[in-house]
Amino acid sequence: MRSFIFSALSLFSSVLASGSFESSWGSGHSFDSRHSHIARQIDVVAGANVTNATEVEMVASAWYTGWHATDFPLSNVSWYKYTHLTYAFGITVDDPSTISLNDSDVELLPQFVSQAHENDVTASLSIGGWTGSRFYSTNVGSAENRTLFVKAVTDLADKYSLDGIDFDWEYPANQGIGCNAISTNDTANFLAFLQELRSTSTGSKLILTAATAIKPFFNTTGSPSSDVSAFAKVLDYVEVMNYDIWGSWSTAVGPNSPLNDTCAPPADQQGSAVSAVAAWHAAGMPFAQIALGVASYGHSFAVNTTFALANGSTTELAAYPSFNSSAFPVGDAWDDAPSVDVCGVFENQGGLWDFWGLIDAGLLNSNGSVAAGVPSRFDECSKTNYVYNTTTQVMISYDDAGAFAAKGAFIKDTGLRGFAMWEAGGDSSDILLDAILEASGFDIDDCE
Ligand SMILES: *[C@@H]1O[C@H](CO)[C@@H](O)[C@H](O)[C@H]1NC(C)=O
Ligand SMILES: *[C@@H]1O[C@H](CO)[C@@H](O)[C@H](O)[C@H]1NC(C)=O
Ligand SMILES: *[C@@H]1O[C@H](CO)[C@@H](O)[C@H](O)[C@H]1NC(C)=O
Ligand SMILES: *[C@@H]1O[C@H](CO)[C@@H](O)[C@H](O)[C@H]1NC(C)=O
Ligand SMILES: *[C@@H]1O[C@H](CO)[C@@H](O)[C@H](O)[C@H]1NC(C)=O
Ligand SMILES: *[C@@H]1O[C@H](CO)[C@@H](O)[C@H](O)[C@H]1NC(C)=O
Ligand SMILES: *[C@@H]1O[C@H](CO)[C@@H](O)[C@H](O)[C@H]1NC(C)=O
Ligand SMILES: *[C@@H]1O[C@H](CO)[C@@H](O)[C@H](O)[C@H]1NC(C)=O
Ligand SMILES: *[C@@H]1O[C@H](CO)[C@@H](O)[C@H](O)[C@H]1NC(C)=O
Ligand SMILES: *[C@@H]1O[C@H](CO)[C@@H](O)[C@H](O)[C@H]1NC(C)=O
Ligand SMILES: *[C@@H]1O[C@H](CO)[C@@H](O)[C@H](O)[C@H]1NC(C)=O
Ligand SMILES: *[C@@H]1O[C@H](CO)[C@@H](O)[C@H](O)[C@H]1NC(C)=O
Repeated sequence: MRSFIFSALSLFSSVLASGSFESSWGSGHSFDSRHSHIARQIDVVAGANVTNATEVEMVASAWYTGWHATDFPLSNVSWYKYTHLTYAFGITVDDPSTISLNDSDVELLPQFVSQAHENDVTASLSIGGWTGSRFYSTNVGSAENRTLFVKAVTDLADKYSLDGIDFDWEYPANQGIGCNAISTNDTANFLAFLQELRSTSTGSKLILTAATAIKPFFNTTGSPSSDVSAFAKVLDYVEVMNYDIWGSWSTAVGPNSPLNDTCAPPADQQGSAVSAVAAWHAAGMPFAQIALGVASYGHSFAVNTTFALANGSTTELAAYPSFNSSAFPVGDAWDDAPSVDVCGVFENQGGLWDFWGLIDAGLLNSNGSVAAGVPSRFDECSKTNYVYNTTTQVMISYDDAGAFAAKGAFIKDTGLRGFAMWEAGGDSSDILLDAILEASGFDIDDCE
């Protein structure tokens, strides 16, 4: 059994291209002594401006899903490799004074918090998610509701000894699952709510984060806001969910979580870490307050062999092939079964494959490399790997260790706050986690 100590927490220059680091909270948690398993060293991130540097602790985080606790119990979490872990999810309901937790979460959340604290890890609860964001808009829709919702959040944080709250509102002023309440004023109301939360004694101490789309929060006319700098003053950081960029709704097989797309053919520029970070930064979110959302799962597509294989090859895959959008491939054991969603709409299975699922299926070896005889392709622009099961005629786009290492290098070079992985249990033997930790500047000191 190996044990690790992190060192060389990056010192972030906060005076990045946009100017000084303005968040009183982003810097307020600097050198939080909570993470005693991390020996901090000064390490100025290459490429960042060092003038007037404000030091903040780099974030190594993941979401832990209560509904996968049977397969991936808390005892399986590599606590010592994280600074922050976020429990998913608390659910918004049609009553701003209440945040709903399942019975099983009521039992598991306290265990999650206490194990996090035993391991010097910051414990947050995420509120919302794809199915749990239905009532965000109304809960922050009036001054009266905001005050009730602030109290619901602080009561929950106090009750469960939470260190942080993660707002995974999918999405302000932009429809998510299909039946969410939505208002053109969502973004302004969200900001007013966060400001009020910060003004409370509990809220002033919480680590507040928001899991966001790749474009900045929408304004009243449904376009990405050009100025989100006020959010930078109340949030510690945002986690930009750079995944599900391509999926069953797309017109071709593309990368789930592209690092870059500015180097892709114009039609294939659907978003990426590079363009998302540029968009948030241009809107006033400092690099040091952007954590990159990364995915330990991939998407599958039905592609016949004629289209899947590059001409004349039995091993090399074609780039961005068409797929059969009427066929919904089955994912691994954690894939959602076909069901009627909270909006009453039938949804096919998602076709998601966790990294461990690809290994279990025999498409990858246990060390994460592509198994012998499996056609594959690594796309240099997006840093995405593709594998193909010739029997089922299913192509899967996913991140391998090389992709995670490339994202880590991007985090380090850009001076981002760190990373947030959906989800902790999707990895296999920490292959992805170790790759991004090392590349993003956490020194992993192998003690044995
Ligand atoms: C450093 O700061 C200068 C002046 O504000 C700016 O022009 C330059 O782009 C910054 N460099 C980086 C890497 O942020
Ligand atoms: C950097 O610090 C110096 C000295 O404290 C100060 O005069 C200057 O305004 C600061 N610059 C920025 C961009 O904060
Ligand atoms: C959980 O940990 C046990 C013991 O190390 C290991 O055998 C098992 O494969 C792990 N399960 C998962 C889902 O990671
Ligand atoms: C709550 O429980 C229901 C029913 O078991 C499940 O479908 C749902 O995913 C759970 N929600 C969360 C947030 O765990
Ligand atoms: C305030 O919350 C209630 C639910 O308790 C909701 O019916 C109402 O629409 C909300 N107000 C606004 C302005 O969203
Ligand atoms: C948005 O807010 C403005 C000003 O507070 C208000 O006049 C308007 O009615 C609100 N619009 C909606 C759709 O709630
Ligand atoms: C919303 O953002 C778009 C794009 O930045 C801008 O053109 C538009 O004027 C903005 N609308 C408002 C009401 O701010
Ligand atoms: C993204 O692609 C552009 C255009 O090819 C290139 O200049 C840039 O270095 C790439 N960025 C990363 C992080 O790969
Ligand atoms: C194979 O070559 C033909 C003709 O050059 C081209 O139209 C087709 O797109 C190619 N198919 C693949 C999968 O590369
Ligand atoms: C292969 O798939 C493509 C795209 O879905 C489709 O247009 C074509 O007819 C298929 N070919 C065969 C032989 O099934
Ligand atoms: C696409 O998939 C559907 C559902 O499996 C199937 O009925 C249809 O024949 C497929 N189309 C092609 C061109 O293979
Ligand atoms: C392809 O899928 C079939 C059917 O599920 C499975 O038996 C086979 O092992 C898979 N092949 C690889 C290389 O994963």
